[in-house]
Amino acid sequence: MYTRVTLCDLPTPLQYLEKLSDLYHNQIYIKRDDLAGPEPGGNKARKLEFILGEAKKQGARHLITCGSTFSNHCRLTAMAALQQGLDCTLVLNKPEDDSREIKNRGNYFLYNLLDVNLEIVSRSEREARMEEVYQELNNRGKKPYLIQGGGYGRAGLHGYVETAAEIKHQARLPEGRFDYLFLATGTGTTQAGLLIGNYLHRCAETIIGISVEPTSQQGEQEIKECLKDYCQHHNLPAELIYQDLILLDDYIGAGYGIIEDNLIETVSRVAREEAILLDPVYTAKAFRGMVNFLKKKQIRNKKVLFLHTGGLPILLSSSEHWDFK
Ligand SMILES: Cc1ncc(COP(=O)(O)O)c(C=O)c1O
Repeated sequence: MYTRVTLCDLPTPLQYLEKLSDLYHNQIYIKRDDLAGPEPGGNKARKLEFILGEAKKQGARHLITCGSTFSNHCRLTAMAALQQGLDCTLVLNKPEDDSREIKNRGNYFLYNLLDVNLEIVSRSEREARMEEVYQELNNRGKKPYLIQGGGYGRAGLHGYVETAAEIKHQARLPEGRFDYLFLATGTGTTQAGLLIGNYLHRCAETIIGISVEPTSQQGEQEIKECLKDYCQHHNLPAELIYQDLILLDDYIGAGYGIIEDNLIETVSRVAREEAILLDPVYTAKAFRGMVNFLKKKQIRNKKVLFLHTGGLPILLSSSEHWDFK
């Protein structure tokens, strides 16, 4: 039903975090989706395998997508397009600070390094500009294909339905599943995919998404719609699956992309204890949320899986937040 292109070397590793398990009194594992797809990878690569599969099936020759100046989704879309011989335009939010320094850092640096087309507009003009770019390319016979921000949608979601089966197969736990699975949630496509995959394959008792930005009612509604759309196509019980959605808003802090001291501490601790690199916008927020949740609920001796969704360029572009002597 879904056509796939190969971008990822699967399965991604599933590792045990020995020191952090001792520290936080649970058996903590990590699923390394930061290693999925073109380097430096991330969760979007799994989605893009199916999104590009669909695009190529439709004869697309030019991908268009959108995001922030530090969007992992945009960077991976650009890389996937190059690997598959497609052109690519990224419609990016105009940064508050559009100095040369910003453009030479992190994912923005990589967009330029990869030499894809960039359209910089204000956040409110983004959707309209995507549509205009689409029309312009279409009129010139360039066969454009629009990818929603964050890889939102049914094909992208499918990548994470499959991941639940991969986790189940890899873990080989005597109990047959993890007690908890934690992840960072933005558009919610990854979490929705895992929820459906979990209904089918039971890889975790409870899946908990940690919001990286305020989850408006609209945000939850979008997750629901995406999940419902997939379920309708596959004849699955959307309402039942949706009941398992747990999305915690408690760890958003000052807002999306705002790097606070507690996130710097989390990134540093995980790096120093386990040599694993989190980023301060997505994965550190989720990791910190997980640790606080386990403490607050006095959860001990459980099997806990953290999904590492990537974001290394964001870490490398945030180095000024560390005040090394
Ligand atoms: C590193 C990282 N983690 C998590 C997410 C959230 O994924 P989703 O949009 O599927 O909720 C993103 C989205 O951009 C991301 O870049």
